[in-house]
Amino acid sequence: MRSSWRTYRADPIEPEKRRVVEQWLSSSPTGPFGTPLRFELVAATADDQNALRGLGTYGFIRGTPGFIVGTARRAARDMEDFGYAMEQIILLATDLELGTCWLGGTFTKSTFAEKIMLREEETLPAVVAIGHAAANRGAVEKLIRWGAKAKMRRPWEGLFFSSTFKQPLSMEAAGDFATVLEMVRIGPSASNRQPWRFVRSQDGRRYHLFLRRTPGYGRDAKYIRVADLQRLDMGIAMCHFSLTSAQLGLSGIWKDAEPNIGALPDHHEYVATWEIE
Ligand SMILES: Cc1cc2nc3c(=O)[nH]c(=O)nc-3n(C[C@H](O)[C@H](O)[C@H](O)COP(=O)(O)O)c2cc1C
Repeated sequence: MRSSWRTYRADPIEPEKRRVVEQWLSSSPTGPFGTPLRFELVAATADDQNALRGLGTYGFIRGTPGFIVGTARRAARDMEDFGYAMEQIILLATDLELGTCWLGGTFTKSTFAEKIMLREEETLPAVVAIGHAAANRGAVEKLIRWGAKAKMRRPWEGLFFSSTFKQPLSMEAAGDFATVLEMVRIGPSASNRQPWRFVRSQDGRRYHLFLRRTPGYGRDAKYIRVADLQRLDMGIAMCHFSLTSAQLGLSGIWKDAEPNIGALPDHHEYVATWEIE
């Protein structure tokens, strides 16, 4: 059901729903690598929507009553953990029938940083718009979705592999994990680049996650300084993987266990491994 919403109704989030979200935010959510994170639900001010344009985000957010603002303590896996935990909040909001949209950029010197009192040792790589989705997407939003091919996803054979990057993993061969991987595939990603790749080990007990970097994008962009958004995408993929596995009663754990599968294709880097328990 989740999809990105950029046009919102004017009415605020109901107190009951706000309470559920705030309770979750105050429960110290974190990702699989345990980076300390902080999240707050803040009311939108009249200036926020204009300010967003100068912060490296794209698209126009209209009428959102609030934002989830979050920070991560700088650490080796800060972006992955932030992506993981923020996506959990998005799925919770979706469950509450609220609309959301990830907004990635550089918020270090923004009013969002002030709102959450960003500390020296923290980063603020993204915020999320949250509220009641308008009955119809606005014309500008429709154009953005068309431009980003928002509904489009790469086919399985370009994303999931068996043993090495040479052999695609078919949905049939994925067995119990077909749904798990499909939920990764339909997840959100910065500019819908879908940089996640999985290689299943030969014995079928490990799923290795790789980041296929988009050259010149995010961290590597020449003209705008934004956070390493594609590492946020990795956290989102891990979140969808873990939650779907849990829902299906498939237990496992994220580990740092880089496989020896020879030279990786260009622009690929290892991220983490899901090991079936
Ligand atoms: C890390 C990240 C950053 C994003 N930044 C923006 C943004 O700045 N502006 C925007 O309108 N959408 C942003 N998006 C939303 C994506 O464009 C959207 O997820 C993608 O196009 C797929 O569409 P869907 O979410 O409706 O499935 C971002 C998504 C992610 C995961």
